[in-house]
Parts: sequence; structure tokens; C-alpha cells
Amino acid sequence: MAVTALITGASSGIGYELAQLMAADGLNLVLVARRAEKLKALAQQLEREHHIQVRVLPKDLAQPQAPAALFAELQAAGCEIDILVNNAGFGGYGLLVETDWAHEAQMLQVNIVALTHLTKLLLPGMVARQQGYILNVASTAAFLPGPLMAVYYATKAYVLSFSEAIANEPETTASG
Ligand SMILES: NC(=O)c1ccc[n+]([C@@H]2O[C@H](COP(=O)([O-])OP(=O)(O)OC[C@H]3O[C@@H](n4cnc5c(N)ncnc54)[C@H](OP(=O)(O)O)[C@@H]3O)[C@@H](O)[C@H]2O)c1
Repeated sequence: MAVTALITGASSGIGYELAQLMAADGLNLVLVARRAEKLKALAQQLEREHHIQVRVLPKDLAQPQAPAALFAELQAAGCEIDILVNNAGFGGYGLLVETDWAHEAQMLQVNIVALTHLTKLLLPGMVARQQGYILNVASTAAFLPGPLMAVYYATKAYVLSFSEAIANEPETTASG
């Protein structure tokens, strides 16, 4: 049976490379990021080279309603997600006293809130089907405080703590 993975932040960097690797393994993909043209070009390349199905769902995960909208589109298309890769994220540098709150608020929304919301939306289906995996991309920044990148490091500490916690909840572990 075909397995489908959803990758956030698939338009560049780690998410783009994970898309290449998962496509080579024969997984169908759902690609999410803001830059639709990058995602479309990637989807065309992966479908051509690996004969898989790739769906492109451009979203700005800094928008609070984006995870629910994404989930609604998946449901409308009858697309079940077997593997969720919460990879989208970004940082920022500077003295907290000087940095831009709007940028940090978006960072909290993408790195923490969207990751948590997508997990909550997609996990129940995985548990019900007794099949599924979630990969939350944190960082070595998760393991220590980061002066001059205080908010970014703290978001990654959250990702690590959250992921380790749910990996040890019985229902979640049972789903794989
Ligand atoms: N690179 C490193 O050294 C490193 C180390 C440890 C952890 N990480 C983590 O790895 C993950 C990927 O990082 P990367 O280095 O591959 O960075 P990257 O090349 O900048 O890629 C970030 C991805 O996230 C997406 N993204 C950013 N803001 C978004 C938003 N508002 N809505 C939807 N998608 C958004 C970007 O797509 P669009 O711009 O098209 O939206 C892009 O696809 C991040 O969580 C990062 O914290 C990176």
C-alpha cells in the first residue's frame, strides 16, 4: 500500500532534501511551504523521476489558521497522512532588547504552534489506523540556552520536550 508523507518547509534546505530521499524510497508526498513555485517545480521533478504522486499545498504557517486549512484540504481530497515531517522553521539573531517582536511572534507560531497543531490534527488518524510516524525537526539548539538567539533556541527546546513527551504516551507509542 502506498505511504504518504507530508513535509513542511519542503521548498528548501532540510525539507527539500528529505523530499528527495522519501521520493527515492517510493513515498507519495504532500509538500508545504509558502513558495508555491518552488514546491511545484520540486513536485514535477519528483513525479517525473520516481513515478510517485506529489501534492503541493502552499501555506504560510505563521498564519494561525493555516494548519486547520491544510487539514481541511487533505480531508476534502481524501488524503491520509502516514508520516508527518514538521520541518518548517526559522531563527533570528540579536539582543532581545532590540529584536523585532513581529518576527519573533511569527517564529513562535511556525516553530511551535503550527508544529503542535499539525501534530494534534494528524495524530488521531495515525492512532486510529495503528500506523504512522511523526518527525519533528528540532536542533542542537534544543539542548542549551542561546544568548543572541534566545527565542529560536527556546522554540527548539520546546520541540524536543514536546516530542519526547508524546513519544512516551502509550497511545502514541502504540501507533509506531
Ligand atoms: N540548517 C541548520 O543548520 C539547522 C540546524 C538545526 C535545525 N534546523 C532546523 O531545520 C529546519 C529546516 O531548516 P533549514 O536549515 O532547512 O532552513 P531553510 O532552508 O531556510 O528552510 C526552511 C523551510 O521552512 C519554510 N518556512 C519558513 N517559514 C515558513 C512559513 N511561515 N510557512 C511555511 N513554511 C515556512 C521555508 O519555506 P518558504 O520560505 O517557501 O515558506 C523553507 O522551506 C528548521 O526547523 C530549522 O530550525 C536547521
